Amino acid sequence: MSYKRSNQQQLLSKLATNDQHGENSPYFDGWKAYDSDPFHPTKNPSGVIQMGLAENQLSFDLIEEWIKKNPRASICTNEGAHDFKDIAIFQDYNGLPEFRNAVANFMGKVRGDRVKFDPDRIVMAGGATGANETIMFCLADPGDAFLVPTPYYPAFNRDLRWRTGVQLLPIPSESSNNFQITIESLQKTYENATKNNIKVKGLILTNPSNPLGTTLSKSTLKSLVKFINSKRIHIVCDEIYAATLFTSPCFTSVGEIIEEVECDKDLIHIVYSLSKDMGLPGFRVGIVYSFNDGVVSCARKMSSFGLVSSQTQHFLATILSDDEFVVKFLEESSRRLGKRHAMFTKGLQKVGITCLRSNAGLFCWMDLRKLLKESSFEGEMELWRVIIKQVKLNVSPGSSFECLEPGWFRVCFANMDDETMGIALERIKIFVGKAEGEAAPPTPVKERRWRKELQLSFSTRMVHHHDNEGGAILPHMKSPHSPMPHSPMVLC
Ligand SMILES: Cc1ncc(COP(=O)(O)O)c(C=O)c1O
Repeated sequence: MSYKRSNQQQLLSKLATNDQHGENSPYFDGWKAYDSDPFHPTKNPSGVIQMGLAENQLSFDLIEEWIKKNPRASICTNEGAHDFKDIAIFQDYNGLPEFRNAVANFMGKVRGDRVKFDPDRIVMAGGATGANETIMFCLADPGDAFLVPTPYYPAFNRDLRWRTGVQLLPIPSESSNNFQITIESLQKTYENATKNNIKVKGLILTNPSNPLGTTLSKSTLKSLVKFINSKRIHIVCDEIYAATLFTSPCFTSVGEIIEEVECDKDLIHIVYSLSKDMGLPGFRVGIVYSFNDGVVSCARKMSSFGLVSSQTQHFLATILSDDEFVVKFLEESSRRLGKRHAMFTKGLQKVGITCLRSNAGLFCWMDLRKLLKESSFEGEMELWRVIIKQVKLNVSPGSSFECLEPGWFRVCFANMDDETMGIALERIKIFVGKAEGEAAPPTPVKERRWRKELQLSFSTRMVHHHDNEGGAILPHMKSPHSPMPHSPMVLC
């Protein structure tokens, strides 16, 4: 241990000096690689394209249009300024009543009005990040465990464990079963934990799944609720991607299931956020929705640590109460996501890459097993480094989602425009062509036009040249001698 580190350990708290934050995973390293060399169509056309960020940027124009038509919704306009004082001094951690009403209404609409949400159970948090941590603080003590189906959202390691001291026990899944959770593997993980004297307090899952982009069937959800009910443990459903559904089968919220299955509602909790469905991660709007009165009351007290600003509450109360807008927005957003998903997966199919069949989410679970030099997690990391360094795409390796089989990658498709997506597909095509030892197929006319517009002056000849590391010089690279980006990934 370095002197500096041990000195810090004496000076600071255990929390400040432990490495449980989880940000030392490749998932976050990929972001750093992007930050140090971000793609820009004209200023940096050879930069890294960010495909590791699950953002929904496809429907901003609809929100912008609404804002222009509704200047009163903001307290920073001529029209809205007269509400400024009241909103600026508002501090109640219950939240503005109109905000809670509007969010409850929106959560119902997102679930096809098949579930009714009670505004008095809406508790605010700083994004789903804060909501997930809050629910852990309410349900578990340090050392207690939550079961989580693999592959799972990497930041759960930070959000659920770091400050709470809760442990996560992964439930294995397999590609042969499309990574679906089974009651057998759930049961086995639960039994192993109890055999080892670990107190299991619950099951937490994302539905629709991050990273799979799939939804749980009604029958699976029913079995899960019956299971947790029989063991007297909790179920927390992170439904942050509820409205990203773009095709069948439909999404079922755990809120619907509990109307159909005999269970103790005190064990049922939903985490929600506007970060994905509305594409507003910067607003930091997270919701803890619990059917347990004790949890609602405790989470509300805790919410003073992560309140949503009253300015944001005020704005959202207005936009989310506009039912006509909300219905249109949800429909259009889902249509655009479906279109983009089709564009991306069809582009991949053309070069022989398949993804797990999905119906929701802002990403695909891409199968690159056949491109691994060796079928191991070392092989996966090697391929991932090539993808970041040479193909210049930030995708996330399956191992950072605790996937048990090497060769799977999560690729986000909704945080860029069509042109950037086209360039990403073109890079993948060239890379796969090279990896398979074949000449890359000729570039379609439309993509040639993009390249021209982006003033890339590379000839396809260069695809056959090699750099010092034996990698192909791809058309997006500056020259065989151009300095490599200062990304942490480049150094390892
Ligand atoms: C499953 C899941 N939960 C929570 C979050 C965090 O969301 P927020 O931005 O609302 O904190 C994310 C973000 O990627 C996520 O995918």
